[in-house]
Amino acid sequence: MDSRIKKLNERVALAHLGGGQKRIDKQHAKKKLTARERINYLLDEGSFEEIGVLVTHRTTDFGMDKEIYFGDGVVTGYGTVNGRLIYIYAQDFTVFGGALSETHAEKICKIMDMAVKVGAPIVGLNDSGGARIQEGVKSLGGYADIFYRNVRASGVVPQISAIMGPCAGGAVYSPAITDFTIMVENTSYMFVTGPNVVKTVTNEEVSSEELGGAHVHATKSGVAHKTSANDIECLEDVKKLLSYLPQNNRETTEKLVFNPKDEIRDILSDIVPENPNKPYDMHEVIKGIIDEDSFYEIHKDYAENIIVGFARLGGRSIGIVANQPMFLAGVLGVKSSKKAARFTRFCDCFNIPLLVLVDVPGFLPGTDQEWNGIIVHGAKLLYALSEATVPRVTVITRKAYGGAYDVMNSKHIGADFNYAWPGAEIAVMGAKGASEIIFRREIAAAENPVKKLAEKEAEYAEKFANPYRAARRGFIDEVILPKNTRRKLIKTFSILEGKQEEGPKRKHGNIPL
Ligand code: COA
Repeated sequence: MDSRIKKLNERVALAHLGGGQKRIDKQHAKKKLTARERINYLLDEGSFEEIGVLVTHRTTDFGMDKEIYFGDGVVTGYGTVNGRLIYIYAQDFTVFGGALSETHAEKICKIMDMAVKVGAPIVGLNDSGGARIQEGVKSLGGYADIFYRNVRASGVVPQISAIMGPCAGGAVYSPAITDFTIMVENTSYMFVTGPNVVKTVTNEEVSSEELGGAHVHATKSGVAHKTSANDIECLEDVKKLLSYLPQNNRETTEKLVFNPKDEIRDILSDIVPENPNKPYDMHEVIKGIIDEDSFYEIHKDYAENIIVGFARLGGRSIGIVANQPMFLAGVLGVKSSKKAARFTRFCDCFNIPLLVLVDVPGFLPGTDQEWNGIIVHGAKLLYALSEATVPRVTVITRKAYGGAYDVMNSKHIGADFNYAWPGAEIAVMGAKGASEIIFRREIAAAENPVKKLAEKEAEYAEKFANPYRAARRGFIDEVILPKNTRRKLIKTFSILEGKQEEGPKRKHGNIPL
């Protein structure tokens, strides 16, 4: 019996050594943790249960039958993060560069299937040279098996991808389908075709970092929702993100705890400047409303004219979508519309109520925007909010102009409660632009056109640059004092806890992609 136990222990010990100490040292020299170190850091101590530790590949070509590693380049299993179950896989770069073989893919698929069955989030720690070159099409089939499961699991359980090394070629499509992608700065990159192919095809000289590093994907492409300075920070980010999410689409996050001591936030009264053209930081408004230090921003450095992220309000997880007057005056553009639409859909999939903070002067004009399809991309946000059945509450802090008023969670597209601050301006457009159009002839004929324009502008502003026309029609449920906003929202979301809304029966809608 002893010899049998010894045999098992030897195999497990070999598996734990991955591709061997030399390659582990190489991994450490690159300031990267190994797959097992990452899992151990992420999960609650002692909670990891491995599945498939003794799996090996089945390839015999190119002398592969002599190069066998237990686990085959990926560590898979389940464990808990802050007491809550997750399923996890971590690619082991020390074994064939973490390259994906048929069996490696089977291991990932197995835990994905289990996660969906029991309703637990899936976390993938990616660090891989791509398809296992020695296996050819079997490996490609393995990728497709994973992609298919990513799609099937979408909207059923949260899926998070951490990119902690290379992720290239077809491999990128799994993270792209998952809900959130977090990239480690300087040690990770993602691209469909690498710098060599780029050079051959387009003659562009570009480094891996410039082509698909964390910074590029967090600022230019939006592929990365977040970046982290190193492996540890990345795993902390995953933990934090998980804390805002339910386990699956049948669960909701914790209930609101109304705390009467914390109702009034005077700080909110002084954030929006008197001058409507002066910017202010919408983060300050968010901070003034939510539970202390509870904002977890998504896509922080991408399309900064809109802010999206999770927060807690009275202890309950909510999603926030907010125009940011600090960038491009908070206009809606191609990127910001896509960013907000995807976030909205995530929240709706997972029963996370939405708070929409509005200060929007309209859509961004110009050929760049029109030729890049602002019509279709703006429609994404309109569509995403319209179809969302989670509790939806809007606060207009200042401007809500034109079509953007409609899009930003207006009453007309199904918002449950719409509030405005007393300085809100809800109109077709700004007073100056409006006066220049409708009083054009009168202004041109005036003795002093500048004075006339100013008069007309004031007249228009008096009539429309306020929340009261909208309030009279019931498009705004109440004009509230900024300092009472937190209290009002806690109450509002708590009465919306029981909201149930079903859309018309259909296979699925056809969001303008
Ligand atoms: N299939 C099989 N083995 C692979 C592999 C792959 N796709 N990618 C890397 N490896 C192996 C390497 O042969 C090497 O093996 P060794 O430890 O026995 O020497 C090990 O993984 C580490 O790779 P190495 O090239 O030394 O690491 P690096 O950090 O210098 O470079 C990559 C990493 C990913 C840039 C590089 O390995 C690479 O370009 N891989 C191929 C990528 C690719 O074209 N994939 C297929 C298409 S998706």
